[in-house]
Amino acid sequence: MKHVMTDAIIRILLIEDEAFDVRRVQSTVKFFKDQIQIKEVVSNGDDAIELLSAKWDQFDLVIMDLQLAGGVMGEALIRAIKRIAPSIQIIVITKMTVNITDFDFANRLLHAGAFWYCTKYPSDIEDYIYQPTDFVISIFNAYEKRQLEREQRRSERRLLRNVQMMLDRARLLGVSEQMQKLRAQIKQCASTHATVLITGPSGTGKELVATNIHYESNRKLENFVPINCGGIPDDLIESELFGYEKGAFTGAHASKQGLFEVANHGTVFLDEVSELPPPAQVKLLRVIQEGEIEKIGRTEKIRVDVRIVAASNKILFQEVAAGRFREDLYYRLNVVPLVVPALKDRPSDVPVLWEHFMQEMSIDMGIQKPTTDESAFRILQDYPWPGNVRELKNVVQRLLLMRESIVGLDTVREVLAIPTGLSAGGPGTTITFPSASELLSLREIEATVRKKYLIYVRNHSTSDAEAARKLGLAPPNYHRLCKELGLKS
Ligand SMILES: Nc1ncnc2c1ncn2[C@@H]1O[C@H](COP(=O)(O)OP(=O)(O)OP(=O)(O)O)[C@@H](O)[C@H]1O
Ligand SMILES: [Mg+2]
Repeated sequence: MKHVMTDAIIRILLIEDEAFDVRRVQSTVKFFKDQIQIKEVVSNGDDAIELLSAKWDQFDLVIMDLQLAGGVMGEALIRAIKRIAPSIQIIVITKMTVNITDFDFANRLLHAGAFWYCTKYPSDIEDYIYQPTDFVISIFNAYEKRQLEREQRRSERRLLRNVQMMLDRARLLGVSEQMQKLRAQIKQCASTHATVLITGPSGTGKELVATNIHYESNRKLENFVPINCGGIPDDLIESELFGYEKGAFTGAHASKQGLFEVANHGTVFLDEVSELPPPAQVKLLRVIQEGEIEKIGRTEKIRVDVRIVAASNKILFQEVAAGRFREDLYYRLNVVPLVVPALKDRPSDVPVLWEHFMQEMSIDMGIQKPTTDESAFRILQDYPWPGNVRELKNVVQRLLLMRESIVGLDTVREVLAIPTGLSAGGPGTTITFPSASELLSLREIEATVRKKYLIYVRNHSTSDAEAARKLGLAPPNYHRLCKELGLKS
C-alpha cells in the first residue's frame, strides 16, 4: 500500500527506553516499511539530543515516549528538539495512566512543540503500540507538516534575501552628522506604525528614505506602494487610490482595486502629497482616522491596515497657510517629521556620493573608474547643487560619458559651469556664439544647444516624465532624444 502523500521515506528517530515498546512501535508501522523507517532508536533524552545535534538533517520525525528513565524528558525534551531542528515533527507516546480528559496536559505538550500525542495500548496487546491506522496516518500528516514548514521557511528566507537586496540598493549614503541622524531616525520610527512626513528639497533622497522605512519595518514582506500624487490627473485620483466597484459609473466594466487596498498590511508612499486635490484630501483624512476606505460605488467601507509615509518638497504648513492643503490632514500626516537637508548644507557627503556613483556607473558602463583630483573635490563641495543628489548623479553620468581617466579641476568646472557661453543661470540664460573662425553648421549648433538645454531641464526636474513635460515632448520622443544626444544608453 502506498500513501498518496509522499514518495519519500520518512526517517524516524525513536526515543523509547523499554525494549517491549520499541518492538510494539516497530510492528505498528511494519506494513509501511517502504515509506516509514525507524532509522535509529535511543533510550534516553540526552542521547537523542546528542544525536540530533550532529545529525538533525537525517531525521524527519521523532517518536518519543513521554516518561523516560534518567536525563531530559517530557516537555523539556520536546523543546530541546525543536530548538535544534524546528521542522522536525514530534509524536509523543504517553502511558494510559495519564488522565484521558486532561486537556491541559495535552495542550502543554502541543504548546511545547509536539505535533500529536497518543496513549499507549495496555501491555497485553503485543503487536501494536496504538491503533495502527491512526498512528500511521499521524506519521504521514506530521511528515506533510514538516514539508510545508520547510517550504515556508525557504520562501521566507528568499523574501528576506530580497528585502536585503532592496535595502542594499536603497542605501542612504552620507557621513555628515545630518545623514547619520536621519538614518538613526529612520531606524527608530521604522518599527512603529506611525505616519511619517518626509520633507526636503527636490532630489535629496526622500523616496529613498521612504523605501528604507518600509524595508526596515515589520511590514517589510508586504507591499510598498509608491503613489505619485502629482502625476495622476485630478479626476482619476480617487479611483486610483480607493478603487471602484463594477458599474459604479459608465465605463466601470469590472471592479478595480485601489492602491490602498493593494498596500493592505504594507506601506503606502504618498509622494508629492501637497498635490492631492481637495476631495482626495478629505478621503485620505478619513482613511487615516478610521482605517477604512470608501470605494466608489460601494456602500460598505473596507477596512485596510496601511502605514502611510508621505513626502513633499514643498513646505507643507505654508501650503496650509495658503489654503491649498487641509490643516487637519497636515497634522495627521506630520506625526513623525523627517527632514532631508539640501546637499549644499552637508558638503561632507559630496565626496562619498561622488565616489559611490562613479564606482557604480563605471561598473554599469564597463569602464575603469576615473580618479578625481583633490582640487576637483573642493569645487564640487563648494558648488550649491540646486538639484541635490539627483543632480550630482547626473553630473557623474555626464562626466563618465566624457571618458576621461582623471577628473581634474577643469573637467569639473566644465561639466558644472557649462561652457561655450551657455550658462545655467535660470531666466537670464544667454547663448554666446563660437568665434568667427570656428563657426559651426546650424545642425551642429542646434545639437549643442539642444543637449545643453536638455541637461539643464533634466537637472531641474524630479523625473524623466517631468522633464519631458517641461520640454513639451511625449515621453518616447524624450527618451529617443536623450539617446541621440548620448545622454542615456
Ligand atoms: N543619501 C543618498 N545615498 C545614495 N543615493 C541617494 C541619496 N540621496 C539621494 N540619492 C539618489 O538620488 C536620486 C534622487 O533621490 P530621490 O528620488 O529619493 O529624491 P527625492 O527627494 O524623492 O526627490 P523629489 O523631491 O524630486 O521627488 C535617486 O537616484 C536616489 O537613489
Ligand atoms: Mg521623490
